[in-house]
Amino acid sequence: MILLTGATGTVGRLVARRLPATEPVRLLARDPARAAALAGPGAEVVGGDFEDPASLRRALTGVRSALLVTANPLTHAHDENFLTAARAAGVGHTVKLTTLSVTEPGATDLVTEWQRENERLLRASGLSWTLLRPRAFMSNTLGWARSIRAEGVVRGADGTVATAAIDPRDIADVAVGALTDAAGHAGRAYALTGPAGITPVEQTEILGELLQRRLKFVELTEDQVLRGLLARYPEPVAHALAESAARGRHGSKGQVEPTVAELLGRSARGYREWTAEHLAEFGGPAPG
Ligand SMILES: NC(=O)c1ccc[n+]([C@@H]2O[C@H](COP(=O)([O-])OP(=O)(O)OC[C@H]3O[C@@H](n4cnc5c(N)ncnc54)[C@H](OP(=O)(O)O)[C@@H]3O)[C@@H](O)[C@H]2O)c1
Repeated sequence: MILLTGATGTVGRLVARRLPATEPVRLLARDPARAAALAGPGAEVVGGDFEDPASLRRALTGVRSALLVTANPLTHAHDENFLTAARAAGVGHTVKLTTLSVTEPGATDLVTEWQRENERLLRASGLSWTLLRPRAFMSNTLGWARSIRAEGVVRGADGTVATAAIDPRDIADVAVGALTDAAGHAGRAYALTGPAGITPVEQTEILGELLQRRLKFVELTEDQVLRGLLARYPEPVAHALAESAARGRHGSKGQVEPTVAELLGRSARGYREWTAEHLAEFGGPAPG
C-alpha cells in the first residue's frame, strides 16, 4: 500500500494519477470528497489531518511507502506528527517533498529553515527516506492567469532573473520511482530543476506565443511584490518569500541540475511543454 499526503495539491494529485494500477493506493485528505474526485479507479480515500495524530495512525496502517507533503511553514508539528505515526505503523519508506533552497548556504529565510528542519526530523526518525528538492514550480505562473485572461498583462517580479523552474509532472515522475522502488532511492536527496533557467519575461513570451495573444510584462517594485505577498500569506511567510526572491536576484536559482534526466532517462520538461498543457487556464484552447 502506498499512501499519498498532499493528494489534493499540485504534486500529490499528479503522483496519484501516475502510480501503477498494480499498486494499492490510499489518498489522505482533510476533505475526502475533494480527493475522491481526483482519485483513480481503485484508489482508497481516507480523511486525515496532520493536526490529528489518530487520523494519521489510521491512515498509515498497512502502508509500505508514503509521500509526505506538508505546507505550513509556521509549524513543525505536521511533520513530527506524521513521522511519529509512520514509525508506529512500521512504514517502510517515506518520500518527502522539500525544496532546493536548503542546499544554498546563504538561504536563511523562514521557509527554507522550516524545510531544513523537516529534513532533519525525517533523517533522525529512523525511517528509510528519499528527499525531493525541487526548484520553483512552473505552475506558480498560474498566478498570472487572471490578469492574462482579463487584460493580457503579466504583473511579476524580477522580469529578467532566471530560475530553473520545474514542471511538477517531473517531480511527480521522480516521486513515483521513489515510492515504488524504495531500495533504489533510499538515503538519496534529489536536486530537481527544469532543463534551463528561464526568466518571467521569457515565460510571458512563451505564453503569448502559445495563446496567440500579445502579452505585456509589467515589472512590480519590491514594495508592490511584498504587498501582494502580505495579502496572500501570513506575515512571516510573506517576508520569507520576499527574502527568497531577493536572493534569486544574485543568480542563485538559475542553475540546472541533471538529476531529472538521470533518473527518468529523458530531458526535463520545458516551460513550453508545461504551458501547452495549461492553455485553458490562461484563457486559450484546451489541449487537444
Ligand atoms: N511551489 C513551489 O514553487 C515550491 C518549490 C519548492 C518546494 N515546494 C514545496 O512543495 C510543498 C507544497 O507542495 P504542493 O504545491 O504540491 O502542495 P499544495 O498545492 O500547496 O497543496 C498543499 C496540500 O497539503 C494539504 N494539507 C494542507 N494542510 C493539511 C493538513 N493540516 N493536513 C493534511 N493535509 C494538509 C492540502 O490538502 P487540503 O485539500 O486538505 O487543503 C493540499 O493537498 C511545500 O512543502 C513547499 O515548500 C514548493
